[in-house]
Amino acid sequence: MEEPKHHGKRWMDKFLDSTLLKIPESPISELARRAAAYKDVISLGRGEPDFNLPDFVKEAMIKAIIEDKSHYVATGTIESLNDAIAKKLRGENKIPVEANDVVVGAGSSPVLQAIIGGITNPGEEIILTDPTYLMYAPMIRSLNAECRFVPVNEDNNFAPTCEDIKKQVTKKTKAIMINTPANPMGVVYDKKHLEEIAKAAVDEGLLIISDEIYEKIVYEGEKHVSIASLNGMSDYVITVNGFSKSYAMTGLRVGYAAGPTELMKYFFNFNYFGHICPAVPSLYAALECMTNQKSKDFVAMQIREYDKRRKFIVSRLNEIGFTTRMPKGAFYAFSNVSGLGKRGKDTVKLAHEILDRTHVITTPGSAFGPHGEGYIRFSYATKYEDIEEAMGRIENFLGKNPPVI
Ligand SMILES: Cc1ncc(COP(=O)(O)O)c(C=O)c1O
Repeated sequence: MEEPKHHGKRWMDKFLDSTLLKIPESPISELARRAAAYKDVISLGRGEPDFNLPDFVKEAMIKAIIEDKSHYVATGTIESLNDAIAKKLRGENKIPVEANDVVVGAGSSPVLQAIIGGITNPGEEIILTDPTYLMYAPMIRSLNAECRFVPVNEDNNFAPTCEDIKKQVTKKTKAIMINTPANPMGVVYDKKHLEEIAKAAVDEGLLIISDEIYEKIVYEGEKHVSIASLNGMSDYVITVNGFSKSYAMTGLRVGYAAGPTELMKYFFNFNYFGHICPAVPSLYAALECMTNQKSKDFVAMQIREYDKRRKFIVSRLNEIGFTTRMPKGAFYAFSNVSGLGKRGKDTVKLAHEILDRTHVITTPGSAFGPHGEGYIRFSYATKYEDIEEAMGRIENFLGKNPPVI
């Protein structure tokens, strides 16, 4: 065969979905890639628990492997896990669902994709808060749907009002996606905030996708409330959750969603066609988290540790000049950098400067939406001593002393 001719430089681009071409690299991966050039890097960037799996979960997984639980599960899950999840949602979250209303996938991310892909035709819209978790918008766009943004602000606990939401609704709007406890803002929506969102959804006939992945990571007696538990709301809400954060098993990839039966079966298909089932030993690890009493202690231990770091980082950040409210949930401090003068005007530049001068990775607020500009997110899912060291380096960088690197 003759060697095929090249068709110009952009030859490969013609195969790509034009929407994908427009989605930029995530600022988190960009910073992480650049950080690889430095030694002694401390990451306050990633939303990744630094705890390891407890032994009893590891043992459950090893047992599954030894017992040859390494084949496809045709139902996309193991039934006992769906039973346990449905029981938890009914008991802890007060959401009336049955085991067959639960879709399990390889992390909450692919399950979210199945939901978005399952409810939107090309060009249809999902409402997001601005700022919000930075994966939602690219995920929505990569599925050829569109985003509508509701600006939210610190003074209203970063929660949208019913009126704010209604202003963004068009004929093409299908749903509103919320996240509480929230990444990156660290806020927890109370019943009043949720009622505003619920009212907008009911008045406008929208679905609510409620990402509750940080539900267990709350402080000072704060209570997580599931919007699906509000009076009459369960038909409007798809609740999304997973094991990555509460049980520190980001790499095992198990997440789930639950909601109205009529919708869930289509999301199940979308999910199944995409990846059949998660890694089966991971499903057994997740089942162990749900059924072994020891997992309560494991979760409580993590919250105690996060709480110590939270208090420390917030107090240090405020000393250094990053105005930071005490987060009530998740493991992020979302600092207002307007006090840093000129430096606080462009947070991408500031995050790169912090990286280059102190070897500390942070996340610029603008990565979470235009209204995130003016903020820097510091993850405290990192060892206490590393947070101490990072704060010292940043203080030196901002102060008169040269950085100690
Ligand atoms: C709000 C939110 N939702 C979902 C995820 C992804 O979770 P999973 O590991 O279950 O895909 C993250 C991870 O950072 C997150 O912050």
